[in-house]
Amino acid sequence: MLKITKLEAGYEKRKILKGINLEVKPGEIVAIIGPNGAGKSTLLKSIFNLCKIFSGEINFKNKDVTQLPTYESIYEGISYVPQGRQVFTNLSVHDNLEMGAYIMTNHQLLKTNIQDVFEKFPALKLKQHDDAFTLSGGQQQQLAIARALVQNPELLLLDEPSLGLSPKVMKDIFKKIVEISKEGISIILVEQNAKQAVEIADRTIVLEDGKVVLTGGKEILKDKRIKNIYFGGR
Ligand SMILES: Nc1ncnc2c1ncn2[C@@H]1O[C@H](COP(=O)(O)OP(=O)(O)O)[C@@H](O)[C@H]1O
Ligand SMILES: [Mg+2]
Repeated sequence: MLKITKLEAGYEKRKILKGINLEVKPGEIVAIIGPNGAGKSTLLKSIFNLCKIFSGEINFKNKDVTQLPTYESIYEGISYVPQGRQVFTNLSVHDNLEMGAYIMTNHQLLKTNIQDVFEKFPALKLKQHDDAFTLSGGQQQQLAIARALVQNPELLLLDEPSLGLSPKVMKDIFKKIVEISKEGISIILVEQNAKQAVEIADRTIVLEDGKVVLTGGKEILKDKRIKNIYFGGR
């Protein structure tokens, strides 16, 4: 469904990603882990054309989407949830969701989609008329994800959804991510919480200094290098 070939991308004169190959199949969760500054966020941004692409190709559903304008990527079925729970805090929950779907011209469909995400996130339904700043951190993250889902994506890009959340709230978010993928939506999940991410992922890619250094299933948690990087050698 998504195929990235020999991607080199970054910012202005700075190359961050140095030849990335990555494939995501329909309904798959692919986790991307790696140290700070490895280029994980840049990889998601490059799929969404929010950084500079030097060379390589990004194919989505057999179509070349390399450097496709961001709004067109949304039309094609790619949605992006940036790092840091970026919701409009002075807008109501409901208005945040409408903003997420600004590209949708079919207003009936938009209404249906908003009802659908309310079913998935009952806390958001209860607070739909409240301003987003009144939400807890976990609820704001739910809202950020819900806003992307309103766009009806086939591929969802999630950048560190668990950042700054308590272990319990984090667990709930991971559970929702699995639920979303079971509906057939492919997910690329960038995470600092390597262990939890690997456990829900079909495949994990370890990124270091803009390169893929390891790829595999849940067994990579036993890999010596991973243990050293993430679990202090335990
Ligand atoms: N807008 C930007 N302009 C220039 N350099 C950037 C920008 N955003 C990130 N970088 C640099 O790109 C590298 C990779 O960043 P990033 O993709 O955010 O890493 P990660 O998400 O893995 O922590 C870092 O060295 C960072 O300083
Ligand atoms: Mg990042």
